[in-house]
Amino acid sequence: MVSAVGLGAMPFSMGDRVSPDREQAIATVHAALDAGVTYIDTADIYAPSWDTMGHNEEVVAEALSSRSDTSEVIVGTKGGITRGPGESWGRDGSPDYLRRAVEASLRALRREVIDLYQWHRPDRSRVYGQVIETFKALQDEGKIRAIGISNANIEEIDVAIEVLGEGGLASVQNEFSPRFRSSRSELEHCGRHGVAFLPWSPLGGTGGGSKEVGQAYPVFQEIGEQHGVSPQQVVIAWELSLGDHVIPIPGASRPASITDSAKAVHLRLTDDELTRIEGQFR
Ligand SMILES: NC(=O)c1ccc[n+]([C@@H]2O[C@H](COP(=O)([O-])OP(=O)(O)OC[C@H]3O[C@@H](n4cnc5c(N)ncnc54)[C@H](OP(=O)(O)O)[C@@H]3O)[C@@H](O)[C@H]2O)c1
Repeated sequence: MVSAVGLGAMPFSMGDRVSPDREQAIATVHAALDAGVTYIDTADIYAPSWDTMGHNEEVVAEALSSRSDTSEVIVGTKGGITRGPGESWGRDGSPDYLRRAVEASLRALRREVIDLYQWHRPDRSRVYGQVIETFKALQDEGKIRAIGISNANIEEIDVAIEVLGEGGLASVQNEFSPRFRSSRSELEHCGRHGVAFLPWSPLGGTGGGSKEVGQAYPVFQEIGEQHGVSPQQVVIAWELSLGDHVIPIPGASRPASITDSAKAVHLRLTDDELTRIEGQFR
């Protein structure tokens, strides 16, 4: 069980792009906790450079270590994408690599068990179900509490459910936002199987989409003005309306952003407003 809105920690570690200093990143995690957020999303590759992998996990761990009210906080991390010299990127779903990745995440997160471990992106050179079996083995060994997958299509979701058993797949994390809606079928599929669906870049991403979502989709702006809230809150409230299993994870590098986004759990959109929102996509 986690809060309906989580915190995406990726903006703490954006490399060449503007990242907050450590103090601000920690203040952002603390603001999330103060706002009732109990899910924090990180990944081993969220790091300023290839040789600082684990950076984001370490910042999250540091932020949580200075608070006493974290017993209900679930940290989800991810592995399976590689970074190497020359900023080369790849995928590795081999048992050896994933085992090393999990051990590295345990160290960075300062944990003995990872609450939620998500396979970040498929390694197309491997049989999907066999990689899921590696996660199952790591779970059986007590290194991982819950297993999730990310950037997965319906067939891959079904394979994961088949390998792990109904109820064994905790979550699917796919891109979903006003500008990226093609994963709606996966969102609905998860709902039918009792699997949590975590929309990533739920506001449209750090590249500007999130800040301008009200201009790009004026209905969110208009409804926000009627409620006296930001268009970003309306976007998240709309995503929440798509099912109890939907847990958006808006990213933030500033306390004010996550404080505002977390308020979306209190925003109830009327049927008429939801119809207007859906109508703009037709
Ligand atoms: N699984 C995957 O492959 C994958 C890929 C990408 C991302 N993710 C996950 O998804 C999370 C979210 O995605 P994202 O960070 O790319 O994009 P996003 O959540 O769509 O946008 C994040 C940006 O939105 C701004 N923002 C958040 N709430 C706001 C509000 N209420 N008002 C105004 N601005 C607001 C933040 O601004 P400030 O920076 O100014 O606070 C931040 O720059 C990531 O942190 C990461 O955990 C996963």
